[in-house]
Amino acid sequence: MLYDVVLFDLDGTLTESAPGIMGAAKTAVEQMGYAGFDLRVFEGFIGPPLHGSFRAHFGMSDAQADEAVRRYRAYYAERGMFENAVYQGIPNLLRRLRTGGARLFVATAKPQLFTDRIMERFGLARFFDGVVGATIDERTGDKVSIIREALPADGGRAVMIGDRKYDIHGGQANGIDTIGVCYGYGSRAELTEAGATHIVDTVAELGDLLAPEYQPSPGFFVTVEGLDGSGKTTQIDRLAAHLEQLGYHTLRTREPGGSPIAEKIRQVVLSPENLGMHAWTEALLYAAARAEHVRAIVRPALAQGQVVLCDRYVDSSAVYQGVGRELGLEKVLEVNALGTGGLAPDLTLYLRLDAAESLARRERASSLDRIEMEEGAFHQRVCDAYDQLAASNPQRIRTIDASLPVGEIAVAACAEMDAALARR
Ligand code: TYD
Repeated sequence: MLYDVVLFDLDGTLTESAPGIMGAAKTAVEQMGYAGFDLRVFEGFIGPPLHGSFRAHFGMSDAQADEAVRRYRAYYAERGMFENAVYQGIPNLLRRLRTGGARLFVATAKPQLFTDRIMERFGLARFFDGVVGATIDERTGDKVSIIREALPADGGRAVMIGDRKYDIHGGQANGIDTIGVCYGYGSRAELTEAGATHIVDTVAELGDLLAPEYQPSPGFFVTVEGLDGSGKTTQIDRLAAHLEQLGYHTLRTREPGGSPIAEKIRQVVLSPENLGMHAWTEALLYAAARAEHVRAIVRPALAQGQVVLCDRYVDSSAVYQGVGRELGLEKVLEVNALGTGGLAPDLTLYLRLDAAESLARRERASSLDRIEMEEGAFHQRVCDAYDQLAASNPQRIRTIDASLPVGEIAVAACAEMDAALARR
């Protein structure tokens, strides 16, 4: 490892916070009667202390700037703080640095109160040994003293990483190396002129510079299960958006299918034309599609550190073929283990619906596949089998009531996801 103490700026380095910051600054000046400005002026508010920015860009007096900061904060506390996203790849970078033994700190000119809430909300807090923000009166929040406070007393080779000249100058004044990141809100010219020790263009480059001997950590495999009509697709959309906002590279996929060959098998296994299909033919086709999908799509994505969100997996075969078709759960699992090489999900979200409710929702659907056309007793067996599977794997399989409103299911599903990512 190049450094054992790594300090990060927040806005423009860990998080893409422009929408909330610019929105808050714009709201503040509009409320104070300013008009006719170029919207790009608000880009100048990302990074430096606010009070100075209001004075510099709008020619405000000291008292006016105080008033503007107060209005800014009102908007920011309510909405702006969450109009934010973690840069893609940051969680994996932080894991990689921690694996390498680095101690991590945040040094930001954003008030401590907001910083702490953002770090919690966006899943960053758990990676850091310390977080230093400004006091709420930002005029005392200069980068030099914030960095000094964040640096641990017992030293170590330390580096300050940031996207603006303030970060570079702050690091220099404290006698430590600096890294300028060009993906944030400063330009390469600004960072070069400030004299950054290193300059990188991407999060990936930052990882290779700081921890070349530590590989990106493996991904996370999440499956979503449930009876037909349980709303898996909608929830996977929501989960994917949530994960992207937390900075995870995310792959959405489904079974049967998910790869070109597996999608062809899907057509055979689900087509109502194939009504007389033998139960073992069906089970082996699902397993064959899965073998292909796991090798061609899922494993490579996990190897790259992505979060894979898969609509159905082995549990579906266990309950539909093992129990629904009465082939025997163990036998079906055995066949599948051959196909998957034993790849198990890190987390399974089971969207639970009664068999009767699933039937009611299927009846409203325009067309049914071969499995959906099965009798009620089949679906009741599948439902009971899901419940039993969830009861006997309470760690991996998290049950969510799929009869709740869509938004409530999404909140529960995202909370389970956050908890599982924090546990690993
Ligand atoms: P799904 O893609 O969830 O259906 P839809 O696209 O209509 O939402 O799954 C198709 C059907 O395949 C579903 O009824 C469950 C069944 N199935 C099995 O029986 N075994 C399996 O291993 C899998 C993956 C699905």
